[in-house]
Amino acid sequence: MREFDGKIAFVTGAASGIGLALARAFGRANMRVMLADIETHALNAAVAELQGTGIDARGVECDVADYNSIQRAAAETLAAFGKVHLLCNNAGVIAGGPMELITLGDWEWVLGVELMSNIYAIKAFLPHIKAQGEGGHIVSVASLAGFLGIPGAGPHNVAKFGVVGLSETLAAEVVGSSIGVSMVCCSIVRTQIDRSARNRPERYGQRTQTSAAADAQFAALVRSGREPDEIAEKTMRGISNNELYIFTHPEMRPMLEDRFQRILAAYPKA
Ligand SMILES: NC(=O)c1ccc[n+]([C@@H]2O[C@H](COP(=O)([O-])OP(=O)(O)OC[C@H]3O[C@@H](n4cnc5c(N)ncnc54)[C@H](O)[C@@H]3O)[C@@H](O)[C@H]2O)c1
Repeated sequence: MREFDGKIAFVTGAASGIGLALARAFGRANMRVMLADIETHALNAAVAELQGTGIDARGVECDVADYNSIQRAAAETLAAFGKVHLLCNNAGVIAGGPMELITLGDWEWVLGVELMSNIYAIKAFLPHIKAQGEGGHIVSVASLAGFLGIPGAGPHNVAKFGVVGLSETLAAEVVGSSIGVSMVCCSIVRTQIDRSARNRPERYGQRTQTSAAADAQFAALVRSGREPDEIAEKTMRGISNNELYIFTHPEMRPMLEDRFQRILAAYPKA
């Protein structure tokens, strides 16, 4: 998508972190933006902030792990703006621990928010984007965890491997059309991801027990991350160049190389 001016963006998880930075960046590029989030007060504050800077922004409360909720949000977006050109699948949560201790509820929560959400949103938005015939883009915030089996982050890794597979498949399906696909493959970013449990619905039942020390270590890691605005800037550039893989942390290249070398090294035994 080369032209952002006047186009309509729908962003999930837009009340915080990377999603908020992306919503701001889309607005600064003169897009009209629908912010979707489960956290109502943060959503309202984000919408007010964007509107205060002259951006045509609206908000819709949405649980991305619920297909009906996404369908309602899509209908609200079309009712508000008449069209939609850019779907940004960003909402995410983290829960983890050693594989044998992670509760089924946490698996369902993370896979619902980080993977099924993308499938639901593509089903809800792609037919409209295609029918409009004005081109469009689907950008999903994946993660380097979509390529690496990081210990202790099972549900997040599995969800992001899924997002990588979904994005590669969709890109192959729309190749040659005016619809682009990108995935943002980031490492640590300074957001509120370490406080994900603030948005965990009760229906998922028991949480995985984690130690205070492990929680503090993860929070410190997140605080040491890159700024969301930097991720948003690289994402804007990647979308406008229609890049499928948008990497944001150059220092992580050796980890990816190691993974691909291990796969290729196994192949001669085929
Ligand atoms: N922060 C990092 O280090 C990092 C690294 C790699 C990938 N990511 C990915 O970036 C994306 C954004 O996360 P972030 O780091 O900005 O975290 P964040 O907690 O700051 O923002 C996540 C947003 O998602 C929303 N959300 C959570 N559950 C939701 C639901 N069911 N429905 C709708 N919205 C929901 C939250 O309310 C919040 O506004 C996620 O997909 C995450 O996996 C983050």
